[in-house]
Amino acid sequence: MKRCNSLPCLKEAGKRSKNEVELIKEELHIPSSMIDFGKNKKYYIRTYGCQANERDSETIAGILAELKYERTDNHNDADIIILNTCAIRQNAEDKVFGEIGSLKALKKNNPNLIIAVCGCMVQQEKSVEIILKTYPQIDVIFGTHNIQRLPSLIEQCLRNKAKIIEVFSKEGEVIENLPIQRESNLKAWVNIMYGCDKFCTYCIVPYTRGKERSRLMEDILEEVKELKEKGYKEVTLLGQNVNAYGKNLDKGYDFADLLEEVAKIGIERVRFTTSHPWNFTDRMIDIIAKYDNLMPFIHLPLQSGDDNMLRKMNRRYNSEEYRRLHDKIRSTIPGVAVSTDIIVGFPNETEEEFQHTLDMVDYCKYDSAFTFIFSPREGTPAARMIDETPMNVKMERFNRLLEKVATYSRMRNEAYIGKTVKVLVEGVSKKNDDILSGYSESQKLVNFKGNKDNIGKIVDVKITDITSWTLLGEEVNG
Ligand code: SAH
Ligand code: SF4
Ligand code: F3S
Repeated sequence: MKRCNSLPCLKEAGKRSKNEVELIKEELHIPSSMIDFGKNKKYYIRTYGCQANERDSETIAGILAELKYERTDNHNDADIIILNTCAIRQNAEDKVFGEIGSLKALKKNNPNLIIAVCGCMVQQEKSVEIILKTYPQIDVIFGTHNIQRLPSLIEQCLRNKAKIIEVFSKEGEVIENLPIQRESNLKAWVNIMYGCDKFCTYCIVPYTRGKERSRLMEDILEEVKELKEKGYKEVTLLGQNVNAYGKNLDKGYDFADLLEEVAKIGIERVRFTTSHPWNFTDRMIDIIAKYDNLMPFIHLPLQSGDDNMLRKMNRRYNSEEYRRLHDKIRSTIPGVAVSTDIIVGFPNETEEEFQHTLDMVDYCKYDSAFTFIFSPREGTPAARMIDETPMNVKMERFNRLLEKVATYSRMRNEAYIGKTVKVLVEGVSKKNDDILSGYSESQKLVNFKGNKDNIGKIVDVKITDITSWTLLGEEVNG
């Protein structure tokens, strides 16, 4: 089969220039043959990875809706299948390869089916090579910087009867006004910036997502106002490192200013993710404490509690600075919950170094923690470091950490028993039709007996019991 290529290059993607970020505000280009192309056809999107990908999938859905495609949740019914992938760890990639493999039969039954793979994984030359070599069923491969080109790429694929690969490895621009079909009518993701310039040594994101670039504050505020008018109850401001918001714009405003302006719009709930412990300013903490609609929940990725590890990871803070920041957050923001990310088994981590991570978990007593075993990502500095720690040792440490994390999560949850919390009711519980579920202000999943008419509203729930990961209760006056 023919191929039209623009292949990824991680090395190029890791470069950073001082060039200004281009702001693009034009309409989506749709080739004339594509205008009604999706009529009576269906699309299926499967999303892997983080909220940035979830949000990108909403744009892809918006673009496909412009082509008049309808959505289906069953890939057997689809005329086009999009896999929006993640490359953060090897197991994320393995899941995608598994799914691609299983699509082969579908393509055989329906040769007109178009299968496309996009997202972070295809920003890596190695993964694209594997797809090309092993999975002929894939028709289109497009990168994180090429989403708005989807109508043209489908058109090229059909016209040339060729496999299309378009993955740019550039620093990226900011594109406004792309169409969007949101997943929820209650909670919305709002991008505030793209990319990452932190280059933590283990992490592939700065290569797959380009350089840090912020949206203009006026565009973000406009979006939040519109969401409020449409009845949305919650927005989550998204960036790989939201503390860096505004830095490339030279407008004199920063993330604390943005938070304050978003809070003033008066939408019920405002969240954000992810805030790096480096550059987390006192002003940010004070503003979160000041506004009731800025939710008391902070995700503060630790990665390691050991100074030597933190240095090798290029995290830009030491354990003492982290501890101080954690204390300030807990003491200033009433009712705050703190969660974290931790990596076990960074190259040559010793038992003593790992112990420092456990010490930090004992100190911070996190409300919750996402824990990962280090996964070497080709092209990153950590993947080139010598690592002599055997996997069974890493696994054993990982399990010790998991146990500790669960203990503190349960302990934090126990403190809620007998208290009343505000819950945004999202729907009936997945497991039991009589039980409603939603999240508290401090981002605890709450399952409770209540009135179904209150789905979509914020209600008071009295907490009567807990598990390690959830709160259980009854709606007050429900
Ligand atoms: N920008 C976010 C992180 C996004 S990735 C931040 O800095 O907080 C989410 C988490 O995945 C990271 O916090 C880290 O704990 C983990 N992670 C990233 N790269 C990894 C790797 N190569 N191996 C294992 N875990 C990794
Ligand atoms: Fe990755 Fe570090 Fe950037 Fe987070 S801050 S995306 S961990 S490089
Ligand atoms: Fe994965 Fe890319 Fe997000 S690597 S975690 S989807 S930024």
